[in-house]
Formats: sequence, C-alpha cells, structure tokens
Amino acid sequence: MVVDLCDYRALLDEPGAAYDAVVSVEMIEAVGAEFWPEYFRTLDHVLVPGGKVALQAITLPHDRMLATRSTHTFITKYIFPGGALPSVRAIEEVTARHTALRVSDDLAIGQHYATTLRLWDEAFVAAAEEVTALGFDETFARMWHFYLEYCRAGFTAGYIDDHQPDADQGEPMTAPTTAVAETLAEALRPFIGGDLPVRLVAWDGSYAGPEGAPVVEPALPRRAAAAAVAPRRAWAPPRPT
Ligand SMILES: C[S@@+](CC[C@H](N)C(=O)[O-])C[C@H]1O[C@@H](n2cnc3c(N)ncnc32)[C@H](O)[C@@H]1O
Repeated sequence: MVVDLCDYRALLDEPGAAYDAVVSVEMIEAVGAEFWPEYFRTLDHVLVPGGKVALQAITLPHDRMLATRSTHTFITKYIFPGGALPSVRAIEEVTARHTALRVSDDLAIGQHYATTLRLWDEAFVAAAEEVTALGFDETFARMWHFYLEYCRAGFTAGYIDDHQPDADQGEPMTAPTTAVAETLAEALRPFIGGDLPVRLVAWDGSYAGPEGAPVVEPALPRRAAAAAVAPRRAWAPPRPT
C-alpha cells in the first residue's frame, strides 16, 4: 500500500482513471464551498470507468445551507475556519453540473453521530487531567466540550445530518485495477519490445513475468494504474524529475 500526503487538487495534474473507488469521509466540509466543483472534478478524474465514490458528509438542509452560507458561526470562528457544510442537494447539483458523476444511493446516519458525539464528549471530560497535562488550558477544554455538545444537539434535533452518498459515472467497470501486473506488463510490451525480463509485483499483490527474475515493484502506482486500466491511452514512462 502507498500513502500519498498531498492536496487533493494535485491529483488533477496526474493521469486519471487510477482508482477503482474513492472513499472520502468528512473532507468536503473542510474544502470550502467555492472548491466543491474542483473537489468533485478530482474524484471524477481519478476514477476508472465504472468506479465508485463513497462519500460521508455532515449536511445542512438545502434552505439552511443557502440562508447561512455567508454567516459566521461558532464552528467557523473557533473550530473549522474556512469550512462549509453542503446539503445533499448541493452535492447532487455540483456533481451533475461539473462532472460525469451521479449520486446513486444515500444513507443518513445523523442520529448515530449524536450517540458518537456523546461518547466522545464523555471520554473527553473523563480525561480532563490528561488533557491539562498535554498543555491544553481550561478555556480550550470548555470550548471543546461545548463544540461536542453543540454538534450533538444539532444532530439530535435533525438540524444537521450525516449522509453517505454513493456516486458513479453510470458505466460498467471495464478493467478493474485488481490483477494489474498482467495488464501493466501488456501495456509495457511495446516499450520493451517483448516479454518482461523482470518479475513485476504490483501493489494489489498480482505479479507478471518470469519466476526467479529480479523483482520490480512499480513506484508510481497512480501512473502505472492509469496505463493498466486505460490501455487505449498512450502511456510513456514518467519523465525523470
Ligand atoms: C474532518 S477530517 C476527516 C478525517 C478522516 N476522514 C479520518 O477518518 O481520519 C478532514 C480531513 O480532510 C483533509 N483535507 C482538508 N483539506 C484538504 C485538501 N485540500 N487536500 C487534502 N486533504 C484535505 C484534512 O487533512 C483532514 O484529514
């Protein structure tokens, strides 16, 4: 497995169609409403044909999202500066307007979130001494306790909710990135003029090439995956940096 720490927008400069699925849990709230089109374009770009997006987002009813979008709340001032909660309708409209993605399913779990917040708050309050020992003062502790309970009240009352929409491009998956090594070896053949002289071991555990040959693990899975799942596209080895 490879973990890349990067801004999501950097992926728009990478070859697309690199992932079978994208799971994005409560990140859309942090990116800011003006970046929602770019955020969804990125998800659309990185997905293989037939791939799936699974989102989780804290949401507002659409009318409340519109009414409060230029106001400052306790949350935007003290907890998540720059953040903005979408509505499910906003997610559907932005994906429809800016991407090939369409929301295909949705699950609301806000009442479970209220329980989670109660448990988080109880654990936080019970750990008051450890919190102080970590260097957080009483002002912070009171603010954090208020934040957890404020959000719990919002979920309990149904003013905010938590949704898990799925989205896809409405196509069947043509070439899953599982067992990528064979597909990648196929894509490499024109460049090396024949069969692999090495044993290619891909990030999904699949392999291609002769047993006993030196093992090569692709170090740039996103680029390699783009070639493996979209062999129609011309693929060249990455330029040295
Ligand atoms: C509320 S947290 C969600 C945490 C995550 N779902 C988890 O389970 O750990 C929001 C996350 O969005 C990430 N994030 C916010 N803006 C981002 C950006 N521009 N590019 C990449 N990640 C970003 C933050 O780093 C943070 O990890």
